[in-house]
Amino acid sequence: MKKIYIKTMGCQMNVYDSNRILDAMAALGYEETQDMTQADFMLINTCHIREKASDKVFSELGRMKEIKDQRLKEGKATMIGLAGCVVQALGEEAFSKVKYLDVAVGPQSYHLLPEMVTKFERTHNRQMKATFTSDEKFDSLPKTQARGYSSFLAIQEGCDNFCSYCVVPYTRGCEYSRSAKEILSEAKQLVETGTKEIMLLGQNVDCWHGLGLDGVHEWGLARLFEEIAKIDGLERIRYTTSYPVDITDDVIAAHRDIEKLMPYIHLPIQSGSDAVLKAMNRRYNVSQYLEVIEKLRKARPDIAISSDFIVGFPGETEKDFLDTMAIVDKVQYAQSYSFKYSARPGTPASLMRNQIPESVKAERLSQLQEKLLSSQKKFNESFLGKILPVLFIETEKEQVSGYSPYLQNVHVKTSEKLLGQIKDIKITRASASSLSGEII
Ligand code: SAH
Ligand code: SF4
Ligand code: F3S
Repeated sequence: MKKIYIKTMGCQMNVYDSNRILDAMAALGYEETQDMTQADFMLINTCHIREKASDKVFSELGRMKEIKDQRLKEGKATMIGLAGCVVQALGEEAFSKVKYLDVAVGPQSYHLLPEMVTKFERTHNRQMKATFTSDEKFDSLPKTQARGYSSFLAIQEGCDNFCSYCVVPYTRGCEYSRSAKEILSEAKQLVETGTKEIMLLGQNVDCWHGLGLDGVHEWGLARLFEEIAKIDGLERIRYTTSYPVDITDDVIAAHRDIEKLMPYIHLPIQSGSDAVLKAMNRRYNVSQYLEVIEKLRKARPDIAISSDFIVGFPGETEKDFLDTMAIVDKVQYAQSYSFKYSARPGTPASLMRNQIPESVKAERLSQLQEKLLSSQKKFNESFLGKILPVLFIETEKEQVSGYSPYLQNVHVKTSEKLLGQIKDIKITRASASSLSGEII
């Protein structure tokens, strides 16, 4: 069998895509390797979201070229490929920038990869595809399989929101919802091959409106949860990412009614200032955001809330920044991701004149992260002495790790084989990043 090595950068959608690329390449006789030097095909699944992410791709490609040259001395041929959002954003430019690149596919075209690889092997003509719609891709991918006890499943792709800083609408195309039939069939394949938890993915997952099982009417997300929850052997359902004002009342009610739906929601506010939110082209203000949280907490009082933040957006004043800091105190986030604003070519915000100096962005980020970490620590410490059901998914030496319903990473020292099981754990230690405990 030939071997493929995939380096995955970026978001959970890219992790999902890399798994589907493995599914597609398996049909061509490729199996995965974690060892680059053994790979006949080295592929980077790229991310374009911030400048840093995009730059990293080119240093990684350089490393692959060195291995390719070394393998050539040993008489072995190696193909180098790029997939993902950088390909979609750069198009042909990726090929002209990197002469040793053999194949490149955008995020909506990776189902074509086996065909392109075959063509390249035959002709040695470089291959590139970057179409803009997802329907053909999902229709033509082969069956999937679980590669762990917790799996991602893309139900929606693309975004029509056009937040003024963001490249995603240009890399993932316009919003596309997969049908319920397709999603349920994939969920069953994952459960049959061992998964216990499914994380439903979408750039804007709450606007999922796929064709229902009758083939006539569209469903909403809450209806989909109900149907997925019926799958025997599936223990937990999660979903991400939610656009704050697109959450419907029935999704909020599902947090109260559907036991398998975990009490956790990723609800990115980005900024705590109405003026900045407006400049970002987000369709909500701070009080609307807080109202959504209030409704969620009413339906499911213990729900854990996480968020993304951007600091140093063009024009962000000290006062705007302090408003973001205040939101953290108000909401008490369980987890968070925070970034310095990165100007991306082709986005409206990159053309705004009032860009913030790098040093100011760095200072604001460090202040915000300190506050977020302390909020996270406080959240985790509130579980000391309590019992949490943990789904174990990883093991290393004498330790097994998994996740609580609130997506906290929980470690337990034991030689018991707990992978794939849910066990009640008494929490004995808590830090900002994880919990540890004992089996009771
Ligand atoms: N669809 C999701 C976000 C996907 S991108 C949403 O709307 O919330 C993931 C995160 O990256 C965003 O939430 C944002 O915080 C961050 N991000 C996106 N573009 C960025 C940029 N140009 N600079 C810095 N952070 C950015
Ligand atoms: Fe980007 Fe905004 Fe769409 Fe999220 S909602 S993917 S931030 S454009
Ligand atoms: Fe990056 Fe594309 Fe995801 S830009 S964050 S890999 S959608």
